[in-house]
Amino acid sequence: MEVVIVPDAKAAGELIAEAMAQLLRRKPDALLGVATGSTPLPIYEALAAQVDAGAVDASKARIAQLDEYVGLPTGHPESYRATVLRQVVDPLGLSEAAFMGPDGSAADVQAACEAYDSALVEAGGVDLQLLGIGTDGHIGFNEPCSSLASRTRIKTLTEQTIADNARFFDGDLSQVPRHVITQGIGTILEARHLVLLATGEGKADAVAATVEGPVASVVPASALQLHPHATVVVDEAAASKLKLADYFRHTYANKPEWQGL
Ligand code: F6R
Repeated sequence: MEVVIVPDAKAAGELIAEAMAQLLRRKPDALLGVATGSTPLPIYEALAAQVDAGAVDASKARIAQLDEYVGLPTGHPESYRATVLRQVVDPLGLSEAAFMGPDGSAADVQAACEAYDSALVEAGGVDLQLLGIGTDGHIGFNEPCSSLASRTRIKTLTEQTIADNARFFDGDLSQVPRHVITQGIGTILEARHLVLLATGEGKADAVAATVEGPVASVVPASALQLHPHATVVVDEAAASKLKLADYFRHTYANKPEWQGL
């Protein structure tokens, strides 16, 4: 995988937004896989700014969600559907018709998982999948020891992830759903380009294990090592435990410009 170290979250957002803009110039109806949480917000802001400035036309873009809480009432502001509509779909000037995601309020959750996995394939597959990373190394909500071949399915959040996400529920642990639907690791690996962004010192251990540790289900993000086109973008703080940081800096500084991300 390629590791790109940038000074801060703003620079990371601009770099990844530019990669998404280049994709949309090549393929206007690209299927963009998006993540929620705090980390990708600078990307969404930078991409919306490009659209507002007329630097890229996103009017045909399609948006696919990575995961969803199970059991939140439809329209709950912290459901990932509502979050992605608010943070990505609306700012890009898209309608809800451009959006696809798993149905966390389905009566038959298992059927909803299988339907979403199939819908991604029928849509032609994800062109660029954005990923954050949990402090425990999760991608999507594939918690440690998720099968590296897993498909979209229901998962139970770890206590660590429940605590990490309580900030979206007024700090009230009891309000955080215990279950989620997440694209599986096997599903995620089918996207044509994976771009994982990590910022802040709290992610440094997970990033080091992902990039420099062995491929192991105990660190789900390490599965990116199996993908032919995976890019890991980190700020200096998240890169602080990488032994090969200088090598990654040297490689990126000498990369031909035409290669993009
Ligand atoms: C969210 C998701 C999660 C987050 C991860 C990091 O859709 O898939 O894997 O990306 O928990 O969250 P933040 O960015 O809030 O630290």
